[in-house]
Amino acid sequence: MDDSYRWFSDYWRIVQLPAGSTSYIVGAWQDVTEDKKIRQEGELRLQQMIQTHKLTALGEVVAGVAHEINNPVSFIAYNVPILEQIWNTVETILARSASHHSDWEKRGLSYEEVCSNMREIIQAFKIGANRISRVITSLKEFSRSDETAQKKMVSVPDVIAGALVIVGAQIRRNVSRIDQTIAKKIPPIHGHFQKIEQVIANLLINAHQAIPQGQKGVISIRCRYIDRLKSVVVDIEDNGKGIDRKTMEHIFDPFFTTRRELDGTGLGLSISYGLIKEHQGTISVLSRPGKGSRFSIYLPVEGNANLSLYPSILCIDHNVKYLKELKANFLDAVIWRSESNDKVGDILAFLEENPEVDMIVSEARLKGFSVWDLMDKIKTKYPLLPVIIYSADRRALKAPSQIRTLPDCTLQKPFTIDKLQKVIHEIGRQQL
Ligand SMILES: Nc1ncnc2c1ncn2[C@@H]1O[C@H](COP(=O)(O)OP(=O)(O)OP(=O)(O)O)[C@@H](O)[C@H]1O
Ligand SMILES: [Mg+2]
Repeated sequence: MDDSYRWFSDYWRIVQLPAGSTSYIVGAWQDVTEDKKIRQEGELRLQQMIQTHKLTALGEVVAGVAHEINNPVSFIAYNVPILEQIWNTVETILARSASHHSDWEKRGLSYEEVCSNMREIIQAFKIGANRISRVITSLKEFSRSDETAQKKMVSVPDVIAGALVIVGAQIRRNVSRIDQTIAKKIPPIHGHFQKIEQVIANLLINAHQAIPQGQKGVISIRCRYIDRLKSVVVDIEDNGKGIDRKTMEHIFDPFFTTRRELDGTGLGLSISYGLIKEHQGTISVLSRPGKGSRFSIYLPVEGNANLSLYPSILCIDHNVKYLKELKANFLDAVIWRSESNDKVGDILAFLEENPEVDMIVSEARLKGFSVWDLMDKIKTKYPLLPVIIYSADRRALKAPSQIRTLPDCTLQKPFTIDKLQKVIHEIGRQQL
C-alpha cells in the first residue's frame, strides 16, 4: 500500500473432504503491526512505571522509619557534645587529684587508658550520630515530606549557578576544568528552585566522584531549550570511569551504591529521579565504561505536559529499502535518507535537537559527505555516542589515515538483523 513494512501472523489448517474430492487449505492473515508496536512501547513504559512504583512504595516506608529514628538520634546528637564537655572537665580534675589513686590499680584500670578510651568513644559517638543524621536527612528528602512548598517560575541557568556555589569548591579539588555552555534565551520553567538545585548538585558530585585519582577530570555542563520537546535540557558530562551495563540497571534504585565504603548512601540518584518526576521531567544517562557518563535532565516548560522520550538509533543510508527494513526491526530507529546536498552540520544539528539519540548506525558510503568526517565530528562533540558503520564493500570500512577516531564497530554486509541487534546490545544503550 504505502510501501512500508507490516507484520502479519498467519493461521491455517487443511480441510479434509470425503475421499476422492479435493482437499483445501483454509487460512487467514492478520496484520499485527500495531499490536507489535504497542507491545514494544509497553515494555519501555513498564520499565519507567516499575521505577516510579518502586520509589513510591519505598517512600512511604522510608518516611515512617526516618521519623522513628530521627527522635532517638537527635537525643544522641544533642547529648554527645555535653558529655564531651563534662568529660573534659572531669579529666582535668582527675589529673590534678586522682591520677595516681590506688583505686585505679585495685580495679585493674590505668588512668591514661581510661582517658584515651573515653576520648575515642566520644569521637566515635559523634561520627556515628552525624552519619545517621545525614542518612535521615537524605531519607526524608527521598520520601519528600515537604510537599507543601509552592512551585514558582524558575530560571534553570540560575539554578545551575546556585548548585555550583554549593558544590563548586568540593568538585574543583579533582576536576581541572568545568566547562559551561549555557544557551541564551532559555525560558523559565514552573518548579522548585531548591529541588532542581539539589538534583544538579547530586549529579555534579557524582561526576566528580567518578573521576579516578590522578586523572585530569573535566566536567561539562550544558543547558539549552529544545523547542520540539518544549523542554529545558541540562547535560552534566564527565570523563570519569563510566558505568558498566550491569551497574547501569541499578543506579536509580534506592540504596544502590558502588561507593558504600566511601560513605555513599545510594540515595542520590533515586532522590534526583523522584524530584525530576515531580516536575514531569525525565532523567537520562548515556555512559561508556572507561570514557565517562552524561546525565541529562529534561524539564518541560509547561509543567503539566508529560514528557515522553525514548532512546533512539539514528540510521543513515541512501538505500531506502534497507532503511525501511531497519525501521521495521527497530521500533526506536530514526531514519535519515542520505542525499547529495546533505552536510555534516545537518546531522550535528539533528543530534542537538534530538538528545534521545543514543547511537548512530550508518552506511559507509554516503552521498553528501564522508562518513568518516561525520564520525570524527560526532566523536569530538559527543564522545559517548557509539557509532557503527557498515558497508558491502570491505575497503569502504577502512578509515582514511587522517581520521584520528575509530568507530565502535564496523560490519561488512551481508549481516543479519540479529547480528546487528547483538552488536547494539553489547555496546549498551542509554537509560531514560
Ligand atoms: N557520573 C557517574 N559516573 C560513574 N558512576 C556513577 C555516576 N553517577 C552515579 N554513578 C553510579 O551510580 C551509583 C548510585 O549513585 P547515587 O548518587 O544514587 O549514590 P552514591 O553516589 O553512591 O551515594 P550518595 O549519593 O549517597 O553519596 C553510584 O554508586 C555509582 O556507581
Ligand atoms: Mg551520589
